[in-house]
Amino acid sequence: MQIDILTLFPHMFDGVLSESIIKRAIEKNIVKINIINFRDFSKLNNSQVDDTPYGGGAGMVLMCEPIVDAIESVRDDDSLVILLTPQGKTYNQKMAYDFKNKKHLILVCGHYEGFDERIRSFVDLELSIGDYVLTGGEIPAMAIVDSVVRLLDGTINEESYISDSFTNNLLDYPTYTKPADFRGMKVPDVLLSGDHKKIADYRKEEAYKRTKDRRPDLIKEGE
Ligand code: ADE
Repeated sequence: MQIDILTLFPHMFDGVLSESIIKRAIEKNIVKINIINFRDFSKLNNSQVDDTPYGGGAGMVLMCEPIVDAIESVRDDDSLVILLTPQGKTYNQKMAYDFKNKKHLILVCGHYEGFDERIRSFVDLELSIGDYVLTGGEIPAMAIVDSVVRLLDGTINEESYISDSFTNNLLDYPTYTKPADFRGMKVPDVLLSGDHKKIADYRKEEAYKRTKDRRPDLIKEGE
């Protein structure tokens, strides 16, 4: 898979791409990630890419030309172009599974007070990561990269994500590690029993109970 991230703040991605599981996926050539700076597509003095809004109002607005030129410099027939904005559809795990099968994702990070409305005509999809406003689309782009790359074949063992929260519309079951007794809080006996069938049944039941208690909306959605 190839992911191109279009941003005004390329260094925000340094840590995410150079640590842990994402770093390893890049080293193993499971994913190639390019960071592209909108400023490299500016035709104005000082590499300007934003300007004041027509009609007045606070802040600066990303201009069409450098953003659309940046998109068109990487887009091809296999690309899915995603704009990160609080006005988009809310991202979820089903979308992560869908994106895992794409050859090429282009993530366009909005910033400042917004972007020229006409940029919307050049993307396939607008996504939000939740009903709150961040300073820009960089952190949402990182969340999408992380959630998709961990699902790619070879990144992590499939067993590690098959019981993830939200897979099959259920939250994950509770897990424990040593010690078996921490300040009087004991690990459930069934997990120490060595009986794999019983353990699997216990986990299924706990995942269901937990989802029903915390996220009944997921159970409804799955029915
Ligand atoms: N840009 C600012 N806030 C955002 C959000 N919640 N999701 C996606 N992009 C954003």
